[in-house]
Amino acid sequence: MEVIQSNNLGEKISDWYTKNGRQNLPWRYDISPYRVWISEIMLQQTQVNTAIAYFERFMAKYPDLQTIENATEDDIFNMWSGLGYYRRASYIFQAKELIHAKFKGEMPDNYDDLISLPGVGKSTAGAILSIAFNKPYPILDANVKKVISRIFFKKNFEEKIFWNLSEDLLDKKNIFNFQQGVMDLGSQLCLPKNPKCDLCPVSSNCQSNLKSEFPLLSKKSIKRKKEFLEFQLIQKNQKYFMTKENKLGYWANLWMPPVSTANHQKAEIIHKLSHRELNINFRNSNKKPKNIEGKWFHKKELALIAIPKPIFNRLLIDG
Ligand code: ADE
Repeated sequence: MEVIQSNNLGEKISDWYTKNGRQNLPWRYDISPYRVWISEIMLQQTQVNTAIAYFERFMAKYPDLQTIENATEDDIFNMWSGLGYYRRASYIFQAKELIHAKFKGEMPDNYDDLISLPGVGKSTAGAILSIAFNKPYPILDANVKKVISRIFFKKNFEEKIFWNLSEDLLDKKNIFNFQQGVMDLGSQLCLPKNPKCDLCPVSSNCQSNLKSEFPLLSKKSIKRKKEFLEFQLIQKNQKYFMTKENKLGYWANLWMPPVSTANHQKAEIIHKLSHRELNINFRNSNKKPKNIEGKWFHKKELALIAIPKPIFNRLLIDG
């Protein structure tokens, strides 16, 4: 068992949040289990600054479980346009279907039901339970891992030990402020290089600070398979020909220009998926392939449909 030098560490973190936290982040007020769920799914792979506008747009269209009840998967994909990791949008679709079919249209308030929802893992379930329902469950996302590794000077990530430490650290009486606080500490003060220990409420309890050595957990190195893609940009009068047909085995249901696999030396864009490294090129063309079904979209409409992130960036930001 880990020995914890408790010293009200959790309380120091929740106190710090009430004075210094980012309380104006949109998912930190008007709390509802639904808002917390959607925000936590967005924040799984998206930076806070990017997530804000998407979250607000999502909430303007679908403020609660009733309004999202009849949304199609495509409707939700479209809200995700440009955000990437579209599987999350699909999970939200599947989960809201399940919530309406099985949970009477209400967000579950217990661990087992929450974790049964697509897209909700242990940490997201912990976030929903603690932030939305005031139940003292631990979170273990990248920021919490970093804070724990620093306070307890852990250089290697060990799942079980980190979960135990995350649980031991909780300020159970002020669980909302604690959870938001520990995530803010991780992102605002406990920086990879030059952490701002002089501002940190737990610096006197932090073994990394005491040793003046700030380990970072090493990222898992993943072997990615190299793939070569060539997209055919077919443009006419500010409109692009886009299709949902592809034989890639990923990016199902997304709109993109016709794509083929092609070996090439140099790639315009290298984009990493979890197990693939995509080497992407683009070729201009003014003829639409005969055997492919698709639609023409005006440049302005591209921001409203779901397009793989690197293609979205090329068409809307660089292109
Ligand atoms: N990352 C995951 N959840 C978060 C939250 N509630 N606030 C800020 N960053 C987060």
